[in-house]
Parts: sequence; structure tokens; C-alpha cells
Amino acid sequence: MPTSRRTFLQLSSTAAAVAAVDLHLASPIWAQGKAAASQPARVFVDNRRTLGEIDPNVYGSFLEHLGRAIYEGVYEPGSKRADANGFRTDVLDEIRKMHVPIIRYPGGNFVSGYNWLDGVGPKDRRPRTLDKAWNSIESNQFGTNEFMAWCKSAGTLPLMGLNFGTGSAEDAAALVEYCNVEKGTKWSDMRRQHGVAEPYRVKHWCLGNEMDGPWQIGHMTAVEYGTKAADAGRQMRYVDPSVKLIACGSSNSRMPTYLEWDREVLEQCYEYVDALSLHAYYGNTPEMTGGDSSKYLALNLAMDKQISEAAAVCDMVQGHKRSPKRLWLSFDEWNVWYRARSGDAVDGHEKEAPHLLEEVYNLEDALLVGGFVNTLMRNADRVKIACLAQLVNVIAPIMTNETGFYRQTIYFPYLWALQYAKGRTLDLLVESPRYEVSGMGEVPYMDVAGTLDAQSGTTTLFILNRDLTNAHNIEVNFQGNGPSRVANSMVLTGNDLKAFNSFESPQKVSPQAFSKPVSSTGRATLEIPPRSYAVVQRVG
Ligand code: AHR
Repeated sequence: MPTSRRTFLQLSSTAAAVAAVDLHLASPIWAQGKAAASQPARVFVDNRRTLGEIDPNVYGSFLEHLGRAIYEGVYEPGSKRADANGFRTDVLDEIRKMHVPIIRYPGGNFVSGYNWLDGVGPKDRRPRTLDKAWNSIESNQFGTNEFMAWCKSAGTLPLMGLNFGTGSAEDAAALVEYCNVEKGTKWSDMRRQHGVAEPYRVKHWCLGNEMDGPWQIGHMTAVEYGTKAADAGRQMRYVDPSVKLIACGSSNSRMPTYLEWDREVLEQCYEYVDALSLHAYYGNTPEMTGGDSSKYLALNLAMDKQISEAAAVCDMVQGHKRSPKRLWLSFDEWNVWYRARSGDAVDGHEKEAPHLLEEVYNLEDALLVGGFVNTLMRNADRVKIACLAQLVNVIAPIMTNETGFYRQTIYFPYLWALQYAKGRTLDLLVESPRYEVSGMGEVPYMDVAGTLDAQSGTTTLFILNRDLTNAHNIEVNFQGNGPSRVANSMVLTGNDLKAFNSFESPQKVSPQAFSKPVSSTGRATLEIPPRSYAVVQRVG
């Protein structure tokens, strides 16, 4: 019997337990200096030592035709909140203010059964279709042109997903032609007939979604997928040589074909692609963590490990092919997701805009998201795109109803990354007391990442304190005089790790001002509260 997506999701979250306890913490990131529990943690900052330029697209997000992400999320004609295009102005304003750089669209599992032609042209002629991935009705009232117009208003870029399930390589190249060619060809002229004269010049494209997964429509073997990706890549580049193409890597690190899939795919399509995708979702489940929050807060280290493993496979194939090209990584789905993951939460029952994947995030989820932000920062040399999955209503930082929206807990660490993680990642030396985590060995209490924005002379530290009970002092030592003035300092913390926001209580978990560090020349001491994520920005 074929594995249904719903069954597979349940199986794979159980299997995650195995992966989570199987971490070998030998990476240089967390194997740095060790400080006794009673000693302060120490961070050494030398502005001459950096790990790489942070691509702003590493703090992208994701909108799938799924549940209420598009319909009722960003598009709700008839609502008092909608503009003439039917776009929700409150959500649009919020996303514009956040400066989300890039948004993946239209899926996700949805894309593997999606015919993009159903979503273009006069709205009254668009078909109502059954979305088989989420068992929902798709009205097709929002499609490629609506998304492009919405991106322009939101000040973001599209990261377009292609249907590699029911769609052909030719269909993929046709969509590139529709979007990127100015005029004089079948598909570019169709776009013009649809009222859009200027091409969109979409740069980044995902060649399918999670094609290694038995739940995926059109699931295939690695060799089949790699061959199709090479063919599609070739055709797409004939249409527009400037496109950047991302091949589907493993759907998660628990897949039985993990890394082997990636290697076989790249053996087929290495020369036609620019990047490999990674996906991962985490949860504080009995299976993954035994409900132990101190273990849960260490799971961003699994993301560090997954990145280095994917990079190793890319480099292995590069060597094998003797290619001068080095692939970069696109971590184009990552988040906490474990509660709204089965039953009615993933089955739309053939309804329009059903309530699917409406995960409610608490304080500890937000702290772990802070950890993920740190992980992405310190892998800036390799990860050039990443997407918090997702953005509105579906495993999302922003939740809407007919009257407005509220911000979930995970919104805040994501926002801080968007606002403050700019420039280059600092190659910090971090010494921290550690604690024992079952299956993971010794994990540092303090997870610290840092950035240097040379233009403004700003140094920013992002600090996760995994200690659930104790505050920790951190001594920050700057090489030379260091920055002199604290510009911003905020912390997300609280007594109740399970506290969450809602329409009734939208600010239950929200950032607080963080007490100024005690400073002397070249050195600052910060007291970091227990169970917290903090950002401290210094200039001068
Ligand atoms: O983001 C929700 C789903 O998770 C996506 O549709 C799929 O790609 C992944 O399994």
C-alpha cells in the first residue's frame, strides 16, 4: 500500500527521535572552549575574523496554497481590510515593515499537483480544482500574477516553486518564459494578454518540492528526479540563462535515503543547478526530546549538523565531477512544527481555506527559533537562501482573523534577524559552561552568534541562554577598543515556557528592554536571564 502523506508525517516525527538523540556534537561550533558552570561565559570578538557575508535572503519565508495562508491570510476580497486587488492591507503593511526579503511560493506539497495555467487569466474563467496534497478546494483566484503584484507591494522577491510531480520539464520552462521573457513568444505574449507588459525577471527557482518523499505527488527515485532536474534546468536556461536553480535535497535528516538521495541527484544534475535544498521541522515531542525542554533548546545544533552534511555531499560531487562550481544551500523550509501535524490539522476535507497547520507557538518554541537564526547566521558562507516555513496562518508568525492579526512568539526572533543580522557573520570564540543532554553529550548553555555591519560600525550579538533555571553572566571581550555605545538591547524571556499569544492575549509573550551591560574599555559584561533569547547591538 502506498504511504499517504498523513501517515508518513506521523511516522517521520516518531523517527525524528532517533535522529535527535543521534547527534555527534563534534562540530567546531559547539566544541569550542569550555567554562565551568560557576564561571562566566566568555565571548571573544575580533572584527577582522568573519565567516562570510550574510545574504539577506537567508531570512526569507514561505507562503503555500495551504489552509488559510493565501486565502484569508494575504488575500481576502470582500474584507474591510482588503485593497482593490483583494490583498489584506494589514498583513501587507506588516510584511512590508518586517522587510521579508524573499518568499517561496506556491508550495510545498501543493506545487506537485498544481497547474500554473489554472491560476492565470480572467478570474471568472479559472477552474475550481481539488488540491490533492491537502484535500482542499483551490479556487485559483490567486495565482502567479497576483503573487507577483503582491510581492511588489510587500517589497519582497519571489522564490518560485515548480511542479515536478504532475508537471513536465516543458511546463517548468513555459512558466519561466511566461514570467521572464519580454515579448514575442507564446508564453510571454500570453502574459501580456493577461495585462502584464513588463516581465517579472524572477531569479530564483525551486526544481520541485520534497521529491524524495513517498507522500509527494509524483514521488520518484533520485536518478529519475536528477535526470528531470537536469532536463528542466537545461530548458529553463535556454529561456533565461540568468536563472538560479535549486535542486531538491532530502526532505529531512530522518529520511531513509538521507544524503544518498542528495548525492545521486547531484550526480545527474550538478552542472545544471546552483544550489541544493534542505528542509527540517522540529518539536518538543515525547519521542524527540522526552518532553525535556533543555534538550529541545539544543535542537538547533541538529540544524548545524544537517547543513554541514549537505555541504559535504555537494563538495564530494563537485570533486567527483572535477567541477569548478561550488553549490550553495537553500534551507527553504525550517521551523518548529509538531502539534498541528495529523488528523484534521492536515486534512482540508475538500473545503476552501480550511484551518490547517495552525500551530500555536509558545515561549520555548520562540527560543529555539532564536537558536535556528543563530545557526543560519554562522553558516552564512554556505546558506544563501532560507525560508521560515511559513509566514501567515500556517505554522506561522502572523495569525489573522476577519478583524486583524496577532504576532505569535516565534515572530520576535525572526524579526530580530531581519532587523539586525546584517553584514558579515563574526567568527566568535565562545566559552560557555555546558550541560549533559541525553543522546547529545555536553551542550553549551550559551549559544552566541554575532554580526558586523562594517558600514554602520555595528556589532550585534544574538544570545540564546538554554539554562532553564539560572541567569548567566557573559563577558564580551572586544579585540581593540571595541564599540562604545549600546544601540539596542532586547530580550525574550518569561517564567512560563509554555506561554503563548492569542487574539485574546496578543502580548503575553513579547520582548522586553534588556538592562544595559556593564562596560569598560574593550569589555562588557551582560547578565543573560534564564530561558531567554537576547539581541545586543553596539556601535561606535
Ligand atoms: O510547510 C508545510 C509542508 O511541509 C510543505 O508543504 C512540505 O514541503 C513540507 O513537508
